[in-house]
Amino acid sequence: GDTKASSQTKEQFIELKNTFAVKLKRRRSVGQQKGGTLLGITVFVCVEKGLKLKDQAIHLSNLSEDHCDMWFRHIKDILNGFQNRPKSLKVIVNPHSHKKESTQIYHEHIAPLFKLADIKTDITITEYEGHALSLLKECDLQDVEGVVCVGGDGSASEVAHGLLLRAQMDAGRDTDSIFTPVRAPLPLGIIPAGSTNILAYSVLGIKHPVTAAMHIILGRLQPVDVCTFSSHSQLLRFGFSAMFGFGGRTLALAEKHRWMPSNQRRDFAVIKTLANLKSEDCELSFLPLQNPKLLTQEYNRCLPKTNNTDQWKTIQGHYLNISIMAIPCLCSVAPRGLAPNTRLDNGSMALIAVQNTSRADFIKHLKRYGSLKNQFNFPFIETYTVQEVKVRPRPRSGWPDDIAEENVDFHSRRSSVISTEGAYPWNVDGYLMEIASEVHIRIHPQLINLYGRNIEDF
Ligand SMILES: *[C@@H]1O[C@H](CO)[C@@H](O)[C@H](O)[C@H]1NC(C)=O
Ligand SMILES: *[C@@H]1O[C@H](CO)[C@@H](O)[C@H](O)[C@H]1NC(C)=O
Ligand SMILES: *[C@@H]1O[C@H](CO)[C@@H](O)[C@H](O)[C@H]1NC(C)=O
Ligand SMILES: *[C@@H]1O[C@H](CO)[C@@H](O)[C@H](O)[C@H]1NC(C)=O
Repeated sequence: GDTKASSQTKEQFIELKNTFAVKLKRRRSVGQQKGGTLLGITVFVCVEKGLKLKDQAIHLSNLSEDHCDMWFRHIKDILNGFQNRPKSLKVIVNPHSHKKESTQIYHEHIAPLFKLADIKTDITITEYEGHALSLLKECDLQDVEGVVCVGGDGSASEVAHGLLLRAQMDAGRDTDSIFTPVRAPLPLGIIPAGSTNILAYSVLGIKHPVTAAMHIILGRLQPVDVCTFSSHSQLLRFGFSAMFGFGGRTLALAEKHRWMPSNQRRDFAVIKTLANLKSEDCELSFLPLQNPKLLTQEYNRCLPKTNNTDQWKTIQGHYLNISIMAIPCLCSVAPRGLAPNTRLDNGSMALIAVQNTSRADFIKHLKRYGSLKNQFNFPFIETYTVQEVKVRPRPRSGWPDDIAEENVDFHSRRSSVISTEGAYPWNVDGYLMEIASEVHIRIHPQLINLYGRNIEDF
């Protein structure tokens, strides 16, 4: 950070709630480790410029050992008293994200801040996809007060999934059947260092690693809604957003070209999928958002699950692209978000379905995301506010409707053919999930805390 000497004449205020470290300042010669002439104390504060947070060192000159020591201890006591601020973190770095910058970003810009704030860190550099998940399933999290992920959406989503899965395991939940998940006990911090950073962007409003670090250090928590994705009542994944159709196919194609640099790969996949635009014949069943109070009570398990069977709605058609999002999904190309009509933490999901239309109109729709209003003002787009959705693709080649569904045993030979050849790509927070049958998505209000803020309130 910057160093700024306090002027003798100008008064300056330092808010203790924005202060995160204090040091005694001494003049030392090169290589000298101890002692030296006392110059005063330096306090480190977080300064805000719009959404951007930065660290700043403020030096207070004073040559008295007793005086400085008293101030040093006093400020230290106050800092130690802030309850939400983590004292130890598990840090998971994906060294392969984007331009392979994350290790450098962490060591150069983030680790020194954590050290200054006296936060103990235990770092794992991941070695393969799925490493973070297997680590979180079994590592000792007893003395950790938060988990930090350095990477893009793929890494962040894997860590969020891992944290939530671990919470269910620790609570003895059977994830093989429809269940009410328990909250993640540990908050998650995301240091954006990937090629897409929608998750980080949604709680920071900006792609800026130091801003993320400052929210973590100051312990600023934002509760966030999470979805469960399941099929045949089996949990597949925890996540925040999903795309089916165009969004899923684009990701599947990009994954097949991993050898390309990440930005190039995405553009290539978008262009190629657009050129080969295809609609998906499917049935969408959804439960429109009910009384939010009931939802919260159900979530707190004060009430048995309400019987909503008669309120489900079903629509059917040929869809080009379907988004199901629990959070607004802010990003640089969509400043109001890919799902501007939902909130981070209010217990609802946006279901946005794009019906078959011409390529030109579909492109017009995609471009409209960049504007500030009327994103969905096209006759071929339907939007709903929902709490549950089932997406059931109708098999392309004239198979009976239900073979990928209930009668797995009876049709086992044929349904395994479907699941290898007829799997549909889903994009869940940038993670590719290939599923042949119906996917059931449910929202769980405020299931995890992320370090950050609600951009809406800003
Ligand atoms: C469709 O796909 C694009 C790109 O993959 C995505 O950004 C967009 O939000 C998706 N959703 C809708 C409803 O068009
Ligand atoms: C959440 O916010 C959206 C958009 O403002 C609104 O449509 C929805 O009803 C809200 N959900 C709840 C549970 O209040
Ligand atoms: C829920 O309601 C439906 C129709 O309203 C009924 O058929 C079903 O038996 C009910 N289920 C339970 C568990 O009460
Ligand atoms: C989708 O729309 C395009 C362009 O309007 C049309 O050529 C195509 O046949 C439609 N596909 C389906 C399955 O309706």
